Amino acid sequence: MLERIKLADLQSKVMTAEESAKFFKNGMIVGASGFTRGGDTKVVLKAVAERAKSEDLEITLFTGASLGHGTDEALAESGALKKRLPFQVDTVLRKNINAGNVLFIDQHLGESAEHILNDTFKIDIAVLEVTEILEDGSIVPTTSVGNNVDIAESADQIILEINTSIPTSIRGLHDIYKVEKYGSRTPINITSCDSKIGSDAIKIDPSKIVGIVFHDIHDMAGDIVPADAATSAIAKNIVNFFEKEVESGRLTKELMPLQCGIGKVANAVLAGLEHSDFENLVMYSEVLQDSTFDLIDSGKMNFASASSMTVSQECYDRVIGNIEHYKNKIVLRPQAISNAVEVIRRLGVIGINTSLECDIYGNVNSTHVSGTHMMNGIGGSGDFARNAYISIFVTASTAKGGNISSIVPMVSHVDHTEHDVDIIVTDEGLADLRGLAPRERALEIIKNCVHPDYKQELLSYFERACAERGGQTPHILEEAFSWHTRLKTTGSMKKSSTESLVS
Ligand code: COA
Repeated sequence: MLERIKLADLQSKVMTAEESAKFFKNGMIVGASGFTRGGDTKVVLKAVAERAKSEDLEITLFTGASLGHGTDEALAESGALKKRLPFQVDTVLRKNINAGNVLFIDQHLGESAEHILNDTFKIDIAVLEVTEILEDGSIVPTTSVGNNVDIAESADQIILEINTSIPTSIRGLHDIYKVEKYGSRTPINITSCDSKIGSDAIKIDPSKIVGIVFHDIHDMAGDIVPADAATSAIAKNIVNFFEKEVESGRLTKELMPLQCGIGKVANAVLAGLEHSDFENLVMYSEVLQDSTFDLIDSGKMNFASASSMTVSQECYDRVIGNIEHYKNKIVLRPQAISNAVEVIRRLGVIGINTSLECDIYGNVNSTHVSGTHMMNGIGGSGDFARNAYISIFVTASTAKGGNISSIVPMVSHVDHTEHDVDIIVTDEGLADLRGLAPRERALEIIKNCVHPDYKQELLSYFERACAERGGQTPHILEEAFSWHTRLKTTGSMKKSSTESLVS
């Protein structure tokens, strides 16, 4: 194991997770590796959670994105979390956020490192998963890069988790590039998905390393939810749209670099491309899922760039076991680069992200259930939606057994404004909003995307809003959230039969 610490002076720093947990003090700002379960710290923060069960120990935790292995759950349950940023997906943490026990800052993932770089958050201690420490003290990341570069630079102390389950031959998979501070910032010179502009390891000051902990724990497997009728229909609608774009000459069979959010819809869309005529595809995304590797293996995709990989156990074994094969087909970058707006705009990315609800004008809520309760966070969807060549949002037309319409008169929280949304897709159909004014957008969305149970009422709302109130974006404000309040009081957005008779 010690051969993974090539700077021999550091070999004396090896300790247990429990010993390393003693470096944490109440009130500290902790920076940790981990991005949608990939390359997360797996043992040290769990030991911190254990300490917090019997001691006054509350931290602010800053990561790349979500963590696996129940780390957020353990920290939230033990009362160790005062504040959490920039993203999470954990059920227990979510409950604690919504109960007001944990403060959560929901940030664009591509911008989160700016807060470290510009000293809004000064990291006291960092915990980073690596495969090895090189002769000069540089560290080689594992299956994500996330915010590790800026966390390591800002931190006063660093604890490294060396994951021996990842072969050291992974070195070369990463492209480590650091954005400069404002005032001396230069262009990020990525001109195609496979551009490499940095180094293969993160430079750190080795004197900051206070502890090294070994483990051999795999990343937690990503949930692969098989496509159902709704996700398959959404995927088909998107593939049809791409085919029409090719016919019209706006896209070629290579499309443009793809970004796909996480989840079952994203996987279904990419799976749909596997059996299409598109070819030589590339990705400029933030997370690589199973479907990316399936496209690469089937010869449909040439290259994929992201900040992390979150895959099933089978796919993990396939990729990590054949890392040399995949090294010239994928690259993992800091999230400040995978989600850099400058690069997304330059490459002309097609962004595909998921919404909880959309409104008739195309505003999108991706984060807040019924306007108040946090689901996961905005993630990287805003980085891509605002800057994509084509910004697509997908959602099933209904949720919770049909009791919720995903298209509502007015969204109860706005993450992506109508100005950043080009296409809305549900299992019912696709609304192409490009070149349409708000009143045209509303008709296109209602006609194509709304479930039949809600279509007539939504059309009636829009027509009455136009007739009674008018304006650039007609709304009847006292009625705009009536679907949400009906859901709250009756458990369904559907009108009861007596209400239907009234209007
Ligand atoms: N109101 C209330 N609940 C809703 C809802 C609505 N309008 N729409 C969906 N839901 C519920 C679903 O019923 C489901 O609940 P369950 O977990 O109890 O079954 C849950 O929200 C998740 O919805 P699902 O349809 O399974 O979609 P998903 O797993 O793809 O998640 C988001 C959808 C929006 C929560 C998810 O994509 C997300 O967090 N997005 C923001 C971050 C992001 O876009 N990152 C992109 C880059 S990775």
